[in-house]
Amino acid sequence: MRDPLPPGPPYPSAVQTLGWWARPVAFLERCRARYGRRFTIRLLGSPPFVMLSDPEEVKQVFTAPPEVLHPGEGARILEPVVGRNSVILLDEERHLEQRKLMLPAFHGERMERLTGLITEVAEREAARWPLDEPVALHSRLQAMTLEIILRAVFGLDPGPRLDALRAKLTDILELGARPSAMLPFLQRDLGPLTPFARFARLRAETDELLFELIAERRAEAAERDDVLAMLLEARHEDGSEMSAQELRDELMTLLVAGHETTASELAWALEQLVRAPGALARLVAEVDGDDPGDDAYLTATIQETLRRRPVLPNAAPRLVRQPVEIGGRTYPTGVCVVAQSYLLHHDRAIYDDPYAFRPERFLDEPPGTYTWIPFGGGRRRCLGASFAMLEMKVVLRAVLARAEVRSGLDGPELTRRRSITLSPGQGAVTALHARTAIAA
Ligand code: HEM
Repeated sequence: MRDPLPPGPPYPSAVQTLGWWARPVAFLERCRARYGRRFTIRLLGSPPFVMLSDPEEVKQVFTAPPEVLHPGEGARILEPVVGRNSVILLDEERHLEQRKLMLPAFHGERMERLTGLITEVAEREAARWPLDEPVALHSRLQAMTLEIILRAVFGLDPGPRLDALRAKLTDILELGARPSAMLPFLQRDLGPLTPFARFARLRAETDELLFELIAERRAEAAERDDVLAMLLEARHEDGSEMSAQELRDELMTLLVAGHETTASELAWALEQLVRAPGALARLVAEVDGDDPGDDAYLTATIQETLRRRPVLPNAAPRLVRQPVEIGGRTYPTGVCVVAQSYLLHHDRAIYDDPYAFRPERFLDEPPGTYTWIPFGGGRRRCLGASFAMLEMKVVLRAVLARAEVRSGLDGPELTRRRSITLSPGQGAVTALHARTAIAA
């Protein structure tokens, strides 16, 4: 009988895990060169991952019925932070229910109302960045995207509660970003001095502040534009409100899903732009232009960054719960099928000159649903995609309006894995120079 799984590297799973974690891009490219657009990798402590990068197969993954493929089950590792009601951890009906509650908060028109607030935070933070010396912008972008989420999603106003939550959440995210955080056995309570015990204390203190915030906002009548305000208005099908625990879990989900991803993607945008002078000049001209509604090149630049440097190199792995046929092959229960954005985005049959950074490619032709998948797809597609697009536009505008940007290094930056995201290896080292000084 034919092996039900496509072939893949024969070496031990410890070696494959090392390749996947330490050099993900090189590892994926090598596997594709050897095995083609679908192959199986075996990682320690995980079911076999079948990596797929044919657009037709990706489509079948994204459109399979909810009872057949379970992405939620594959994300269990996040439960200690996001809690068990998190939309990211659920499947089938419970997933759909949470997703329906959250979707209205991320509609375009709601997002528009947050533009002013996001712009204010971005401009204030960017004004603090040092000039005339090479700076690794990634950590500054992390601080900026954290502030944006705390203000626009959690709805926190400046003051002691914002300061306390910023400090505690930074520590929690820092602990979560350590590679050891991904090891299941360290996620257990093994004593008062372990990293988990420290994490559990921080989580308890954070939750107290979040429950306080939720109770206060529920009691007050003021109209607000933030995402928490929308979630407070959401109703389950039986008419009941979201519980405080549900609200807390979804806020933490939005933080975990939306903070590091956007910071890393912005870091890549700058890393790519400073090495593409033609694209940078065209973008600056658009940003400086008289028509604020004209952001075609800015949009294309962000789409190209997401294509060339998808911070999540794949959509959420989907656990097969019922045998499923994809691309003429039947996959058994217990394996994961994984839509591979990195390989799809770097396929010469789909993209001309795929390793070049060329925003123009998206000016005439918008990205395809199954050939451009930085936000995944189907009913699990990133809930925050429009928030992320808006945020990245606002931040790039704020940075480019204030400063001329140049590379702070000689060569390009390699890819580094930071917990689940891929980011520029040296943190997007950039030199900023005041534009007024240059003009003078
Ligand atoms: C550049 C930034 C971002 C990227 C590249 C990104 C990418 C992704 C990807 C690949 C997925 C999995 C989709 C799938 O498996 O089909 C996802 C899910 C998700 N993202 Fe994002 N994301 C970004 C920013 C954000 C932001 C800003 C938020 C919220 C404020 C957010 C909230 C979520 C949520 C809640 C999910 C889970 C959806 C579900 O399971 O139904 N993301 N994201």
